[in-house]
Amino acid sequence: MKILVVGSGAREDAICQSLLKNPQNVVFCAPGNDGMKLNGIKTISIDEDEFSHLANFVEINEINYTIVGPEDPLVNGIADFFKSRKLLIFGPTKKAAQIEGSKSFTKKLMADAGIATANYQEFTDLQTATDFLKTEAEFPIVIKADGLAAGKGVYISPDQADALEKVSELLDGHKFNTRKVVIEDFLEGEEFSLMAFVDHKRFYPMPLAQDYKKIFEDDKGPNTGGMGAVCPVANISKEIEQTAIETVIKPFVKELYTQGIKYTGIIYAGLILTKSGIKVIEFNARFGDPETEVVLPRLQSDLSEIIEQILHHKKISEINWEKNGLNLGVFAVSQGYPNKQLSGDLGSTDDFRNCPLTTNFASVRKENHRLISNGGRLYLVQTQAQTLSACQNVIYRELDKMEQNNIFYRRDIGKNSL
Ligand code: AMP
Ligand code: GLY
Repeated sequence: MKILVVGSGAREDAICQSLLKNPQNVVFCAPGNDGMKLNGIKTISIDEDEFSHLANFVEINEINYTIVGPEDPLVNGIADFFKSRKLLIFGPTKKAAQIEGSKSFTKKLMADAGIATANYQEFTDLQTATDFLKTEAEFPIVIKADGLAAGKGVYISPDQADALEKVSELLDGHKFNTRKVVIEDFLEGEEFSLMAFVDHKRFYPMPLAQDYKKIFEDDKGPNTGGMGAVCPVANISKEIEQTAIETVIKPFVKELYTQGIKYTGIIYAGLILTKSGIKVIEFNARFGDPETEVVLPRLQSDLSEIIEQILHHKKISEINWEKNGLNLGVFAVSQGYPNKQLSGDLGSTDDFRNCPLTTNFASVRKENHRLISNGGRLYLVQTQAQTLSACQNVIYRELDKMEQNNIFYRRDIGKNSL
């Protein structure tokens, strides 16, 4: 099959590598990045928001179908556009992608489906939000910009003064173009991620994964796009996993269908196990990043066939996953990320080619046979082993060996699985 993957990060690298396990597949990534080329992935210099150029490429090259990695093109209607050109695409329509694009839309769906989530209120008016924070709110409290904010639109405010400042930035300063905020209860517990392939009414869950979101060890410092991930999640039991499928994914997929939203693609549930049970923190309309980098290497079935069957609405009898051991992935990021980041030389392309572990590239570019940092999250190194310490030993040995400047990585990814 000929497949186009849209996106440019480590998640898209992992999707392409999974598709390439079937030697008959020809895989293109648009726009991809220079690092992916070292993994044998054909990159195409068309940006993810150039829908008509992407569709032209698909038509000219007789691509069987397209998979969309990131949320922006989905929320901006890439699936609708491809459908209007009669092209097969794996990803939800603009309307369906609102499960990620609009927190208030998703909160309503959850309420309709009876899915547990933090109690919340919506505000479009600064004065009303201020009154709420001054009279009724309990702290800490969570303030979320309604809309896509590249993972940055969520604040956990420890007290009233901080909350008032954040709400003012969003509703008065319109940071992230915000017109509406969701203010919700602060939830405490172990977070985990559950993704599923979705074909309208049907869904096929993947194994659980856990994303380490904070920049520093021991989960300190600001949130990032993800500093590493593990799959499966040792500290969440099989029973809880099953409950999450039954009480979150199943009713959510059913509710979407009942409300006339025919969802095709991935549904990602960000969950938290609180003292009063599993609650939803967020839904995303795509593969998680960096969860995908540790989940897909455990897929034993053919990813290209799974997606093809879903696109033709054929029931899949079985999807097989590796049952033993675990997969661990650690992101190398630029010093200073997620704030002002420094750039640096990451080493020769041969250094990366000789790395015995899987590398998924993100913000890197090539200059004279060397890779140079080109953003915050640079590349993720991933491996599979029987124990966490075996995974960590090989990953950190490889990362420590690299002679690079201005890079940083957490040394405790997977710690909750001990
Ligand atoms: P989101 O963009 O909604 O996934 O939020 C980013 C991160 O903020 C989550 O992964 C949580 O760690 C944290 N967060 C979001 N909502 C809540 C909440 N209601 N209670 C506690 N932490 C939250
Ligand atoms: N790992 C969180 C996300 O993909 O949004």
